[in-house]
Amino acid sequence: MIDPFGRRISYLRVSVTDRCDLRCVYCMAEDMTFLPKREVLTLEELDRLCGTFIGLGVEKIRLTGGEPLVRRNVIGLVRSLGARIGAGGLKELTITTNGTQLTKLADDLYGAGVRRINVSMDTLDPAVFKSVTRWGELDKTMEGIFAAKAAGLAVKINAVALKGVNEGEYDRMIAWCGEHGLDLTLIETMPLGEISGDRTDQYLPLSIVRSRLREHWTLEETDYRTGGPARYFTVKETGRRLGFITPMTHNFCETCNRVRLTCTGTLYMCLGQEDAADLRAPLRDPAVGDDGLRAAIEQAMLRKPKGHDFIIDRREAKPALARHMSVTGG
Ligand code: GTP
Ligand code: 5AD
Ligand code: SF4
Repeated sequence: MIDPFGRRISYLRVSVTDRCDLRCVYCMAEDMTFLPKREVLTLEELDRLCGTFIGLGVEKIRLTGGEPLVRRNVIGLVRSLGARIGAGGLKELTITTNGTQLTKLADDLYGAGVRRINVSMDTLDPAVFKSVTRWGELDKTMEGIFAAKAAGLAVKINAVALKGVNEGEYDRMIAWCGEHGLDLTLIETMPLGEISGDRTDQYLPLSIVRSRLREHWTLEETDYRTGGPARYFTVKETGRRLGFITPMTHNFCETCNRVRLTCTGTLYMCLGQEDAADLRAPLRDPAVGDDGLRAAIEQAMLRKPKGHDFIIDRREAKPALARHMSVTGG
């Protein structure tokens, strides 16, 4: 699949549920209304859609949410997608999770063919963790991370950079990740969905963070690529990778290779735009069939926009997009 700007689309992010057991302040409001279950595709429907995307050239699938591991029987979907790795055309199946279910599910993920996961953990301080997630327990996420390592999974920590919240912790996080054999990615907060606070207060440009980090760490350029948006350095002192995801300060849309499917079968061609294509109707229409479904996806690809136009500006009362991050899983 090639989009109108000549970008090859090979990465599908699938939000398997909009629900989550936490309520991170930059991601959700406290009182979220979740989708009624009847709106949500079955795991079999999601598997069929993913299979169609793989047939069209998708090589990497990432399950997201909400929190993907709170969806009932999600391991069934992981297994059926895992069976598509290799000769089935899929090169990588991975997941972004908050880690709370990993003590239970890490072995199953590995057994299904997952080798690398990203775990969201914005802080090493239990009190800050509680305030960011509204009620999460840091210990539970950390136990999940250690369970994942023990199961054989490579783990990357995702931390959203939040001014005045985890701002003073990155040195410690780099050291901690080094000790535990984990990579780390710092992410600029993006303006999706109405949240309780003011995003301008939270926004911290990573260009500033990176120069501060260089005072204590030797950051060596690498050409390591995951097919995701991060730019990676190796921290010489720890030997681990440190990634920066900078949609606000350094736009990476030019090399975009991804689209996102929601749990209702809506396909967003861009995280930062409203335009979306409904795949649930063709998926459920017996008159459409596999060819029709493929055609619907190919048509949607022609609508992929050039990029996002996120801004975080105090003068803007509204978020750039009404949709919350939990709809598309980032
Ligand atoms: P790797 O495969 O490990 O590189 O992961 P990834 O960065 O592709 O996925 P992850 O789910 O860890 O996402 C990390 C952050 O990148 C999240 O905040 C996502 O919202 C953000 N992100 C992923 N893709 C895009 C994108 O196309 N545009 C923007 N603006 N942000 C993105
Ligand atoms: N801006 C940037 N990253 C976000 N995430 C959730 N909401 C936002 C936001 N508004 C992150 C999560 C997770 C990843 C999928 O996206 O922390 O690591
Ligand atoms: Fe691609 Fe849109 Fe993300 Fe930009 S914001 S990198 S165009 S998905």
